[in-house]
Amino acid sequence: MSSVKEQLDKEKLPSHVAIIMDGNGRWAKKRGNARVFGHRNGVKAVREVTEAAAELGVKFLTLYAFSTENWNRPKNEIDALMSLLVSTIASETKTLMDNNVMLKSIGCKETLPKSVQEKLASCKEQTKNNDGLTLVLALSYSSRWEIIEGVKKIALEIKNNNLEPSDINSEVFGQYLETANMPDPELLIRTSGEFRISNFLLWQIAYSELYFSDVLWPDFRKEHFFEALLDYQGRERRFGKISDQVKK
Ligand code: FPP
Repeated sequence: MSSVKEQLDKEKLPSHVAIIMDGNGRWAKKRGNARVFGHRNGVKAVREVTEAAAELGVKFLTLYAFSTENWNRPKNEIDALMSLLVSTIASETKTLMDNNVMLKSIGCKETLPKSVQEKLASCKEQTKNNDGLTLVLALSYSSRWEIIEGVKKIALEIKNNNLEPSDINSEVFGQYLETANMPDPELLIRTSGEFRISNFLLWQIAYSELYFSDVLWPDFRKEHFFEALLDYQGRERRFGKISDQVKK
């Protein structure tokens, strides 16, 4: 039996995969540890999927690392997550360079601690000429925040006579979102057996295929990522049309 990776059709890979990394807290609790222990172990899974996506030639990988709503968590958990982000970005920059990965982020950067903002900016600067995978970290991100920000920018353009209301369509609106110039994700994965979207990329996932895995994020490995891609490749994407219209 060939490996899951070998079964993948390299011609039919999604260009953009988005992941809701979930289950770190439960993973730690099952082991009698603090939630932070789960987050620390989640970094290995981040490395695995990034490498897997880069190896395959996926162009964009977006990871939901910290939502707007996550600011409501206990302060010690937020502080631990922020320092984990700083140390991980610092320690992984070389791996990103070795794998030709460019780092980007979406979300309200201004609300992040200065230390995170600085590490993020320096990693983005170092990796800006890499043209393999683009790794997008959603940090202090929520979709409703993003959409409202987009609407405010459009309103300002109209006020300044740079845009007519009749100019607005899906393409134009998309250019005012954090994900401007990125393709919509063809595949959205959520781990840990939860079936929610949690305010993630609501506009962009209009036609995404959804894949839910029972695996808790710290246990998620390349093989699980390949399984999700194989499942995706077995789906028929109809975009509102009927089956006969989309079959070639
Ligand atoms: C969800 O699990 C996970 C998070 C909110 C944070 C994800 C962060 C990492 C994997 C660490 C570092 C990331 C990067 C990109 C360097 P949860 O805490 O909601 O788990 P639970 O549902 O079991 O409580």
